[in-house]
Amino acid sequence: MMGRQPARWCALLLVLTAAWTASPAAARFVVEKNSLRVTSPAELRGVYECAIGNFGMPQYGGTMHGVVVYPKANRKACKPFDDVGLSFKPRPGGLPVFLLVDRGDCYFTTKGWNAQNAGAAAVLVADDKVEPLITMDTPESSGTEHIENITIPSALISKRSGDDLRKALENGDMVNVLLDWRESLPHPDERVEYEFWTNSNDECGPKCDMQMNFVRSFRGIAQVLEKRGYTQFTPHYITWYCPEAFVLSKQCKSQCINHGRYCAPDPEQDFSTGYDGKDVVLQNLIQICVFRVANESRKPWMWWDYVHDFAVRCPMKEKKYSRECANGLDIEKINKCVGDPDADEENPVLKAEQDAQIGRGARGDVTILPTLVVNNRQYRGKLGKSAVLKAVCSGFEETTEPDVCLREDIETNECLENNGGCWSDKSGNVTACKDTFRGRVCECPIVNGVKFVGDGYGHCEASGVGRCQINNGGCWKESRNGKTVSACSTSMNARRTFSASARIALARIHGEAMSAAVVATTCKDSTSSVGWSFLWVIFFGLALAGVGAYAVYKYRLRSYMDSEIRAIMAQYMPLENHETPSQQRPVEHAEI
Ligand SMILES: *[C@@H]1O[C@H](CO)[C@@H](O)[C@H](O)[C@H]1NC(C)=O
Ligand SMILES: *[C@@H]1O[C@H](CO)[C@@H](O)[C@H](O)[C@H]1NC(C)=O
Ligand SMILES: *[C@@H]1O[C@H](CO)[C@@H](O)[C@H](O)[C@H]1NC(C)=O
Repeated sequence: MMGRQPARWCALLLVLTAAWTASPAAARFVVEKNSLRVTSPAELRGVYECAIGNFGMPQYGGTMHGVVVYPKANRKACKPFDDVGLSFKPRPGGLPVFLLVDRGDCYFTTKGWNAQNAGAAAVLVADDKVEPLITMDTPESSGTEHIENITIPSALISKRSGDDLRKALENGDMVNVLLDWRESLPHPDERVEYEFWTNSNDECGPKCDMQMNFVRSFRGIAQVLEKRGYTQFTPHYITWYCPEAFVLSKQCKSQCINHGRYCAPDPEQDFSTGYDGKDVVLQNLIQICVFRVANESRKPWMWWDYVHDFAVRCPMKEKKYSRECANGLDIEKINKCVGDPDADEENPVLKAEQDAQIGRGARGDVTILPTLVVNNRQYRGKLGKSAVLKAVCSGFEETTEPDVCLREDIETNECLENNGGCWSDKSGNVTACKDTFRGRVCECPIVNGVKFVGDGYGHCEASGVGRCQINNGGCWKESRNGKTVSACSTSMNARRTFSASARIALARIHGEAMSAAVVATTCKDSTSSVGWSFLWVIFFGLALAGVGAYAVYKYRLRSYMDSEIRAIMAQYMPLENHETPSQQRPVEHAEI
């Protein structure tokens, strides 16, 4: 890698890596481990170290007994075992099978998936070279959706341990082992401190989807634990800085805020389209500020709602990712915390995030995104509700675990407080908040057979036949001389829908002031529609012209792009599909 780069890029690489090595003693990646205790045969008895894979479900706080089986064929587990006619489902009364497979030729996750489908209870991957243990990570390519469905634990064992196990099996010995995660996380007291290193970017493929699914499914539990004081949660976001010599380059300007101090990679890995890295850094900063402000008012759990709702309401995929799309609780405080992203000065909040990235104590640097840190140790395994809950629960001093650790079906009624942040009508008796086992969702309701439509957060309105019965369909109404005159008509649904999208286009061009005028007209007599359709032509013309101008602007931006810098930035920013250059990183999280 280095050999192919001209010398000046080497210098640049050093600057970029400086963030990781600023604290020379601590800067490192820590391979998280559990232990493998061999109970028989006698000559192998002892405890061996293994590295927890970053997928599947490690049994934090627990143990698993099993017998080791080394398959006769498909020893790298790169093919389904069905293809070679092998199955490892334990017979009734038999011990679970820990499948021993060789490293190489395919993704670690493929091996795990094939072992699971063949009935194995865990997969042990034997390294193929003598080296310190590494962390088996997930690939970032698409077409690997099965990773989410891997539920067995995985562990990498050293080449030497692998050789020993194989030899014992060849001799016809039965190899009994115990996988043990009880000491994988510290559990010193009755409160668990945990961190979630995440990113507001939602368009990075499977990793981003996994991140969002985790927030969605874990939110309810996280909030209950936090409200009851069992945990102290802190979200974190990774940022980079631009090398000084490039601060004024187009690349750093589009990827960074605060004059190159805080950067994120381009979400689409394409400088010419969609969002830029700086949009991501800014949104990350807003999310940290939401947490800070919420934490100050002793409601840190509000972060989960904001982040969840932001992902639902403002996805990049729908081009809604923006500062304006969703505002946190206290806009003024949040704006103060965010500061001026164009200012040539440090932002204390992001500075603190950069400092926190570097490993401290047993934790090591955070280099995999997303990463969960529990009691200052990095969690390894699938980012799923029950797997993570197990890890968090294993962080409590024994007998101090909250109930939720003992049973999973916790109740939360998250709609009781402020309608869970969802839309409600003025009287408060019609709300979009629904409490589900996954936490609350904001969904426009159906009341007395009248369906409400809208985003569920800021807006819901009655639709269909009967909508005029509810709050007069939101239309103008006046009583004069004992007669009530109403602007509501039940036959205008098509136009209403149309006007809603047109209103958004309009608001974008002319600012919100225009929108009020348009909304009012939807309740008017439909005879005026001819005049309005003429106006729509003009408005859409304007919208098209705007889109055209934007395209030209983006095209010009692209022509400034310097592919060398892009390639270098790409290597140092996670959430990219590029192979990790292992020579440069303090860690190898090899995929095969
Ligand atoms: C993973 O599990 C889900 C739900 O259990 C299922 O719908 C999906 O098909 C599974 N995916 C694969 C690749 O097996
Ligand atoms: C959140 O608040 C708690 C106490 O109220 C404090 O100890 C903690 O440091 C705060 N966290 C952050 C990130 O500000
Ligand atoms: C909401 O409550 C008010 C009184 O508080 C009542 O008059 C009205 O009918 C209620 N609306 C619905 C839809 O239940």
